[in-house]
Formats: sequence, C-alpha cells, structure tokens
Amino acid sequence: MTDPPKGESPVLQTDHYIRFERVDSVEETQRGLLAGLHREQLRVDLVADDVVRVKISRGGVFDESPTFAVCTDPLSRPVEFRVERDEDRVRVITSSMVVSLWLDPFRLDVHRADGTPVVETAADEQGRYWAYATLNDSFTLRRRCRQEDAVFGLGEKSGRHNRKGRDFTLWNTDVLNEHETAEFTAGKEPGDPRGDRTSVDFDPFYVSIPFFYHQSYPAGTMAASFVDNGYRGSYEFSAKDEYRISFAGGQYTEYIFAGPDMPAILGEYTWLTGRTAPPPLWALGYHQCRWFDYSQDAVEAIGKRHRDHDIPCDALWLDIEYMDGYRVFTWNKERFPDAPGMLARLSDEGYRVITIIDPGVKFDPGYEVFDQGLERDVFCKTEGGDTYIGQVWPGNTAFPDFVTEEARAWWGELNAAHVQSGLAGIWNDMNEPATGAIRANTMRFGNGKYSHERYHNQYALLMAMGTTEGLLKAMPEQRTFILSRAGFAGIQRYAANWMGDNFSRWDHLWLGVAMGSGFGISGQAFVGADIGGFAGNSNAELFLRWMQYGTLTPFCRNHSEIGNVDQYAWAFGDAVQDIVRESVKLRYRLLPYIYSAFIRASETGEPVQRPLVFDHQYDATVRDLDDQYLFGTDLLVAPVLEAGATSRQVYLPAGDWHDWHTGEVLRGSRFLVAPTPMDRIPIYARGGAVIPMWAEAPATTKEHHPDVVELHVFVPLADGTHTSRLVEDDGLTFAAREGACYDTTFTLTRSGGSVEVDASVEGRGYPEFARQAFHLVVHGASPSAVTVDGAEVAATDGGFRIPNAGNGFRASFEA
Ligand code: GLC
Repeated sequence: MTDPPKGESPVLQTDHYIRFERVDSVEETQRGLLAGLHREQLRVDLVADDVVRVKISRGGVFDESPTFAVCTDPLSRPVEFRVERDEDRVRVITSSMVVSLWLDPFRLDVHRADGTPVVETAADEQGRYWAYATLNDSFTLRRRCRQEDAVFGLGEKSGRHNRKGRDFTLWNTDVLNEHETAEFTAGKEPGDPRGDRTSVDFDPFYVSIPFFYHQSYPAGTMAASFVDNGYRGSYEFSAKDEYRISFAGGQYTEYIFAGPDMPAILGEYTWLTGRTAPPPLWALGYHQCRWFDYSQDAVEAIGKRHRDHDIPCDALWLDIEYMDGYRVFTWNKERFPDAPGMLARLSDEGYRVITIIDPGVKFDPGYEVFDQGLERDVFCKTEGGDTYIGQVWPGNTAFPDFVTEEARAWWGELNAAHVQSGLAGIWNDMNEPATGAIRANTMRFGNGKYSHERYHNQYALLMAMGTTEGLLKAMPEQRTFILSRAGFAGIQRYAANWMGDNFSRWDHLWLGVAMGSGFGISGQAFVGADIGGFAGNSNAELFLRWMQYGTLTPFCRNHSEIGNVDQYAWAFGDAVQDIVRESVKLRYRLLPYIYSAFIRASETGEPVQRPLVFDHQYDATVRDLDDQYLFGTDLLVAPVLEAGATSRQVYLPAGDWHDWHTGEVLRGSRFLVAPTPMDRIPIYARGGAVIPMWAEAPATTKEHHPDVVELHVFVPLADGTHTSRLVEDDGLTFAAREGACYDTTFTLTRSGGSVEVDASVEGRGYPEFARQAFHLVVHGASPSAVTVDGAEVAATDGGFRIPNAGNGFRASFEA
C-alpha cells in the first residue's frame, strides 16, 4: 500500500482544444431537450428520475449505439419531467434532479432536488467554462470537485480504491508485456511507481470501465458518470478542485447519475450495462490452475491428490501447453492422447475442466482454424486489406474480427465444438488484444472499416459475447462459465474477470483486495486475483495468507506461472496445508451464502466483494479503507497483508459484529486490534444476519444436495429488523427462471429479549432438492429451546433441528 504518486498537473494538454461556448437554439423533446451549438446538436434525454443522458453529435450526426456496453433501451421507462426556460438557461426538472443547460456561456450542471451538486462544469483561471471541447477527434470536459471529495470505481484500477489524487488511462493493456507498456512507463520520474509495471500503482490495466462515483464531503452523497465510449480514455483526478474526462475519439455520450446512494446508482448502471449472469454453482468452488506442461496423467494425478489430501476442489484448468503448438482449439496429442477419456474420468471424480482460448490464431496455412478464418473472411484487416498479424504464443497470429456478427458466430461455433469433448468452461486470455512486439494500431475492425482505437477496449467484451452466444446456442439449458482477462463496461454479462498477472508479493496480495472491490462497485461481481500470486515464487506464509482471504473472494482460483515453485494446496508442508484445507472447507460450507449473494448480484448488480463504502457511505471513516471488505452483505473480511503479522487493525462499521472465531460480539463504528495467529484471519458476521451453510464441506459441489442446511443466526445487540436470503436451485441450468428453486427470505427481528426469525419462500422446488431440515445455530445467545410455528424444539448437536422441505416457518426464542 503505497501513497498515490503526486502530481498537480493534468497529464493531458488541452490548451489547443476548442471549447463549445454558446448554445444557439433549444427545443423541448419527448425525453428532454435538443439544442444546437457550434454546428452540432446536444441532446439531453432523461433515462430515469435520477439519471440523465447527454450526447453531442459529431459531424452533425448522432451515433445511437456507440459501444456494446449498453444492453437495454435506456429510454424505455416512463419519466415525468417539466422544462422551464429562463433568460440564461433551460432547466429540465424531475422530482429528483434539475438539469441546467446554460446558454451563453454554455455549460451543463445537474443538481439534486435539494440543490446539492451532481455535476457542475468547471471554469479555468480565465473564467472560461469547459463543458465540452474538441480537438480533431478527441473531446474533453472539466468538472468541479473539492479536495476532500472522494472518487471510486473505474473498474480494474491499481492503487488505492479512493481514486482522488491520481490520473488514469483507459486502454486495455497486457501489463507485463514491455512493448505494450512502454508508452506508459516512459518519461516517468525515477521513483514514480507508475514507471514500473510491476508496481501496485501501474496504470493502465487489462480492463476499461468508464464509470466512476464522485463522493462529496462531508455530506457523503454520491454522484456517478458513465461515458459510453470505447476509445482511449483519460480520467484525471489529480487536480485539487476539478476533474477532467477526455476520450481520444467517438461521440460524447454520458450517463449522469444523481444518486445520492451508491447501491441505487449501481443498480441503474447495471440496468444499462447488464448484470453478472447467475453462475453455475461449481464455478464458485475452488479452482486449481497452473501454467505447466502437464500430461493427461499428471492432470488426473492432481485431481486425485486433492481428493487424497481432502482439499475440496471443483475445477482443474489447462493453460496454453495443452494445445498443439499453441494452436487454439487443438490438443497436443502426445500429452493428451485421450482428452475425452481424461475428461470423463475427471468428471466421475467431480471435476470440471476449463481450457484457455486466446484470440490469436496461429498464422499457419494448413491449420484448419486459420484456413477457415481466411475462407470465411473473419479476421481483422489492415487499412490496405491484408490480414492483420500480431504476435502471441504461437508466433505470428491472425485475430478474429469480433466486431462482425460473422466472426462472433464462427468463434461461438468453434467454442461449442471444443467443449463437446466434455469441457465445462472457457478461459479467455490475451484479449486486450495483446499483440506482443507488433503494434496493434494497424489492426482494423468491421472488415477494415473501423480504426483500431474504436474497438480496442471492446475486443474482449465482443469475444466473450461470441463465446457465450455460441455455447448457449449449442447448449441452451446450461449456464456458461467464461473467465476473461480484459473487458469493458458490460463484460459482467458474459464473463468473470481475474486480475491478470500479479506477483507473489505481499503488496500484490493487497492489490487484489482493493482492485476486487473496485471491480465490484463497477458492475463486475465475479472477480478474483490469482491466489498465491502468478509471477515469481510464492512462499509458505504468503501462500497461506493469500488462501485464507482468497477463499473469501468471489472467484477463487490458485494460479501461477510456469517455472515457479509448486503452489498447490499441499506444496508448503503439512502445517500450511492443514490451515489451507480449513480455509477451502470454510468456503465450501459457505457456498449456500455465496451462491445467494451471486443470485442477488444477478438481480440488482450489487457486488459480492464490497468495499465498506458501498454499504456505509455516510461513514467518513471508510472513505480510504481498502484493506478489508464485506464478502456478501454480512461477512467482514480483513486479510493479513504482511509477513509475520500477529495482529492487525480492523474497522467495524455501524451495527454489531460477531467475531467468527471467538463468538465475541463487538459494537461497531470503531477500530480494534484483531489477533492474527497463523491459523486465522479476522472475519466478523453482522449482527442480525442469518448465514446459511452446509454442515460439511463436500469434496466437490457435483451432485451435492444435502438433506440439512445450517442457518447461523447472529443475534444483534440492538432491537431492529434484518433480512437475509437463501437461494437453492439446480445450480446448472436456467430452470430457476421458471420457478424451479426455493428462494427463502429470512426476516430476523429483535425486540427486547425476544428474537423472531420469519422465513418466507418463493419457488416450487427442483428435482435434485433433498433438504429435509434446517439446523438452526444461534450465536450471541444460548436459548434452551426455540418455538417453531407454535411448537417447542429442544436443542440437539449445538442447534435446533427444524424439519423443512422448502416451506416457510416462524421461529422465536429468548436472547
Ligand atoms: C498470460 C496469462 C496467464 C497465463 C499465461 C499463459 O500471462 O495472464 O494467466 O498463465 O498467459 O497462458
């Protein structure tokens, strides 16, 4: 955790930009306003009561779908508003906000109904407003903010989660490739961490999400901005009293969210760009991955070893070495003489297998995929019409032109055929796209029609879209699982993201904490870093601490680079393995809770890994707290971030919190020092929560349909009502959409000494459902009996057995 690099001056020089200074005409439209200015048109369209979209045409023309991020018709919901004209401005007024279009000089401000600012155009020292200015194809705008304000979001960004004080570029980058990072490391002062691509402050990263929150202090209110533009972007938050947004091309299309609450903003943002798809349950298990030249026997041996060592594991991964000469959609027949047989045997052991698929297709006449791509004319071209050639693992490679439907459909078919052998998911890497030592700028899209810049940042999104659509076409009943390295706004609809090539270093352990939380509040709930670290050798303590927290992140995968020391769960000796096993088992026992959190994410866009600011934004203490997080709504996790640490500071937000390990109930809104002996990291459960757990950790989720689910009831100290949820379904298909599930909401109410838990159920169940009972485990009180629907139940096995096969109930007890 280093301090952000200093720098008062903005990175982008905008001296020569031409400001739009005056509005010539304004007319009212069905959704807002249409104005004429500088031979262009400006449109203000209300998306909701508290969301407005602003667009400015280019060359007089509007681009109605500038990127693939938005997946709904933004103007499909009714909004009530009125327009008022004054001499110097026209206002669009809803019950939540006022959009002010100032005519001369031109500026655009949005305020909430109570007058507090959402966005306000900034003026420079000469008093000139910068609502919008262009230079050739690029545009820029400047907004007011205050030094003490905070900025969050922007997806996968390095460094502190409060982005204020730093500048960022949005350009999907293969971070460890020296060619691709050269322009970003060049010219940095010695000692500037941004000159070092291995530093935890390096920028840009693999994923670009042009969406951020601006929090006003001391009020704590949030506003947000999503610029729907895929070109290279620049977000500058280093200046004290303004921020600047610039894009290198394309249309200015911005969605402005009035807030003031972060969850509601994220709900609106993910309504526009889509929500994390419900994952298959197995994808929430433990994943073992390693870049290694395995043979099929070796893969099976690793599967067996997890079972022998009693380490739960659902998925084994195959990195690039499984291919024949790095040719995508092929197998190395020497090392994998019978891939379907291996996959079938692993399936019997409860494993799913995932293979890597990079976009780079080896330039190799005679190789079927390459020949097909040429024949179907689906590769990216250069301006002159050549097939664009870049460099990935196989050497020279062609790249599918995912901007075209034909290329996406072709890729979908290839993926569908590839998984027919028994694969469960696809891992997309190098999809920034990474082109190695050959520059990507001559790679054009849309059959050569569009510049590279226009679609670079969307390449991975389109690749994941084609893959998902192909898999769903071939297997419409099955949920898909794709892991992607790069991405753009909307990637959550198709793929999970891992955070690329991190290092086996303590500072990189922390990097994943802050980055994962930043991802979560930017719409991507399914995220995780390579556990143990990818580059460099891990070691016993680092690996142990990483597993303890990595098992409590949304995506849980151990991965490391070829040539490093072993990093398997058992690799660092029995003492480490025993603790690692407990961590993995805790994750498996928590799967009903984790799965329910994912279902919630798929419905509302809420993150699974949440920075404290998401649920506690009006608590000023959490603004800069990025070394702990909530996992789901009710578990607070504070990873150990240093070697040799025997304790760490933890902040408990409002409410009361049950120490997971000791059972002690602690009042919140305060710091404490938590012991961190090697066998545990601090974990706390929110008072009032009902956390569903499996009684035992299964070796795999495959065919695991237990007859009992434990309900851990954390009695709150104070009176009040809390809700929690358990979603049970087949975890594999879409049948739950038609009601094949049990979706139970628990409402816990404490009133004086009495506690009541009311469970109400939706759904009609599903064939595999086997639950016969809940086992109620009470924390923070020791009742001798509970009353369930009027009948008294006595304690057994440290809890209370409540026969239950999917019906609602009411339980009460004295605390
Ligand atoms: C990239 C990926 C890494 C993978 C390697 C080989 O570096 O980020 O996860 O192991 O390529 O495919």
